[in-house]
Amino acid sequence: MSPVLDPFGRLQLGGVSLAELVGEVGTPTYVYDVDAMAAGARELVAAFGDAPHLVAYAVKANTAGRVIRAMAGEGCGADVVSGAELRVALGCGIAPDRVVYSGVAKTDEELDEAIGCGPRGICAVQVESLEEIGRVEARARAASRRARVGIRVNPSLDLKGLTHASIATGHDEAKFGVPRVDFVRAVERIEASPHLELVGIGSHLGSQFMGEGQHLEAARMLFDFVRTMRGGGGAKSLAFVSVGGGFGVDYTGELADPLRPADFVTAVRTEQRGAGLDGLALVVEPGRSLVAPHAVLLAQVIQTKVAAVARWLMIDAGMNDLMRPALYQARHRIVPLVGAASGPAAVPWRVVGPVCESSDDFGEHLLPSDAPDAVAILDAGAYGYTMANRYNGRQLPVEAFLSGGRLVSSTRREPVDGWVADRLSAGC
Ligand code: LLP
Repeated sequence: MSPVLDPFGRLQLGGVSLAELVGEVGTPTYVYDVDAMAAGARELVAAFGDAPHLVAYAVKANTAGRVIRAMAGEGCGADVVSGAELRVALGCGIAPDRVVYSGVAKTDEELDEAIGCGPRGICAVQVESLEEIGRVEARARAASRRARVGIRVNPSLDLKGLTHASIATGHDEAKFGVPRVDFVRAVERIEASPHLELVGIGSHLGSQFMGEGQHLEAARMLFDFVRTMRGGGGAKSLAFVSVGGGFGVDYTGELADPLRPADFVTAVRTEQRGAGLDGLALVVEPGRSLVAPHAVLLAQVIQTKVAAVARWLMIDAGMNDLMRPALYQARHRIVPLVGAASGPAAVPWRVVGPVCESSDDFGEHLLPSDAPDAVAILDAGAYGYTMANRYNGRQLPVEAFLSGGRLVSSTRREPVDGWVADRLSAGC
């Protein structure tokens, strides 16, 4: 669940008062409501009913072991984009058979890991170019294995205005996916190889799409491809169609009827049945939608600065902790830990971090004129910690995990000494 105010005006997440938690875990700290994340995954898995499916949780959104294990516990597999993510997914108990691996430039070592794990390698290495097919084939031959591959097709859609340009991938100029015009060649190339088995086709349009229109268009294209391939007597080993991830999250908190991934599944299943492809497994690769809404980033106010042009609220979380506003002009709501954000005493504060960049700016927010001691940045469970870095010699944020209405664990805040020592010795 997203945070709520308790009867005493204190912000709560997962049944825990965040004002009290700050004393325990310090700041900046990501706080995750793991039960709510699991509930979202459960709802999505249930939307498939008895139909063959794989909910491949895109671990890049949130790689915390506890979160991935919770997803696995609800029946999710994983979508990974590196050898390291693959290892984390497998280490969290996800079977190789339930992992799909995308990425435009997988190294030979990463391909070896994917092809070599478990009795038959992972569920599918999703190839993103004609060139990659030859590379996967070479690694499979070297391992004396038959690698299971999927083709990630770039559907060449016009996605302008539907999401931020930096996170749109299913259009002509993007580096992602086998170009639509090369699809048939890709199929022929894979089917001609004794070391490759074509098990799936898919597409991923990008991230943070608020409607289902483009996803359904891409799904229809994929279903048409399958029918054409089968019509020509091919694609005998095809087991799944993946419609990717990208289901948007309502960062405004104001949408009357935001898209629910479970509703999207129902809509795609209808298309699938209409195409007569009920026997194929449907794969979805959601990241953000499962984890973003059920987390906050806690920060304390270091100081204010009031000038003629603005009232700045300077907090101890910066763009190194949460990059999304600086990278994509993303807006996350910011609320005080105690008391309502709005009300007669609320004024616009420009909330900024301590990093030496003008883009270290979380935007203008209505907050009490008496600056709060601490704030929560909402919907911070996806692409938050996973993109955090140590720019300016800053510490990485801590992650705290809530379950059963209490704090169950938190990571250690590494002192800055390690960074100082590392930099002092660099090149020496
Ligand atoms: N599948 C593939 C192949 C992907 O590349 C991605 C995300 C997903 C699934 C999951 O998409 P999701 O359901 O989370 O939207 N850092 C950006 C988002 C980058 C998404 C990268 N790929 C952000 O903070 O908005």
